Amino acid sequence: MKIITIIGARPQFIKHFPFEKACEGRLELKTIHTGQHYDANMSEIFFDQLGMKKPDYTLSTGSGNHGEQTASMMVEIEKIVLLEQPNGIVVYGDTNSTLAGALVASKLHIPIFHIEAGLRSFNKKMPEEVNRILTDHISDLLFTPSEAAKLNLTNEGITKGVYVIGDIMKDLIKYVKEKDLIGVRPIQESYYYVTLHRPYNTDDRERLKYILENLNDLSSKVIMALHPRTKNLMEKYSIDLNQFSNISFIEPQSYFHNLTYLTFSDGLITDSGGMQKEAYWLNKNCITIRTETEWIETVTLGGNVLVFDDLTLIQNAIDKSIENWDSNLYGDGNAATQIVNKIVGYV
Ligand code: UD1
Repeated sequence: MKIITIIGARPQFIKHFPFEKACEGRLELKTIHTGQHYDANMSEIFFDQLGMKKPDYTLSTGSGNHGEQTASMMVEIEKIVLLEQPNGIVVYGDTNSTLAGALVASKLHIPIFHIEAGLRSFNKKMPEEVNRILTDHISDLLFTPSEAAKLNLTNEGITKGVYVIGDIMKDLIKYVKEKDLIGVRPIQESYYYVTLHRPYNTDDRERLKYILENLNDLSSKVIMALHPRTKNLMEKYSIDLNQFSNISFIEPQSYFHNLTYLTFSDGLITDSGGMQKEAYWLNKNCITIRTETEWIETVTLGGNVLVFDDLTLIQNAIDKSIENWDSNLYGDGNAATQIVNKIVGYV
């Protein structure tokens, strides 16, 4: 039984690791890397560090407008799928690579298995929202991290093939904890850890400056891992890194290093999806610079606070202490095995 899986952006390399392991001896797995993320520290480093197999196919899609990027992936993915004739295609999450893979599979009548299905921000201006809605509606098996995600699908009339299996990213956190893979404290000073890359926070010069100025005013030092999108835009807008004396800018981090920075921080400030959960699982306060989140449970449980217009609210929110962390949030860290069981039973 042959499965093709599509990966392309940083969070997908992470999600792919537990799945690849769970497939061993059970499913023949071929991997297509679309090349959406191509810098070594956005891509290669994850394969090396996690010891994953190199992709069977690597496309050279690169950056571009959404239509162009998605279309060019589709052209190449289709050729490979026709050649390989898989029994199913696995896609993760909500990036343009996810949608490209799902659309190709759908046109060729190949079953689609969507990992991290049912998430909704209810903000269709986000490209990810459109990607995930469309992918869910053409998927045959939909693996959701939570009951709320399942309910989102029910509300859209999708009830067949839906399984609540928890979050595959928790499989990795469990692995990291079991193998004790968190590194040593990076600096002695206390600090907040920051990542930022969403277009609505980075693409407008004034918005980006406003965020950086507010981070610069926080009471503890800020360590900010700079996504290439954000870095490129800061250059384009002539925003000088040196004017923010409270912020240390560092390169995008590998998986284990990122978790190490998070673990020893006094809290996370982010607009990433995955890191909101990682912060929760590591019992770190999270401030999400967005007006909404797909990971609503982290907010209702008190571990995550949304701020957007008034960023002076960050300081109080990040310093509050939380008594009870729900260790069962998004499952027990065995999602990948359950996914493989369902796929084997389906194809
Ligand atoms: C993409 C995903 C987003 C995910 C994020 C994780 C979509 C629509 N968005 O956003 O859901 O949270 O990845 O990082 O698929 N760039 C480089 N080198 C790279 C990759 C990107 O320089 O290796 C720069 C380019 O200038 C590019 C920009 O970053 O134009 C944006 O990259 P892109 O993959 O289009 O979107 P992300 O913002 O990374």
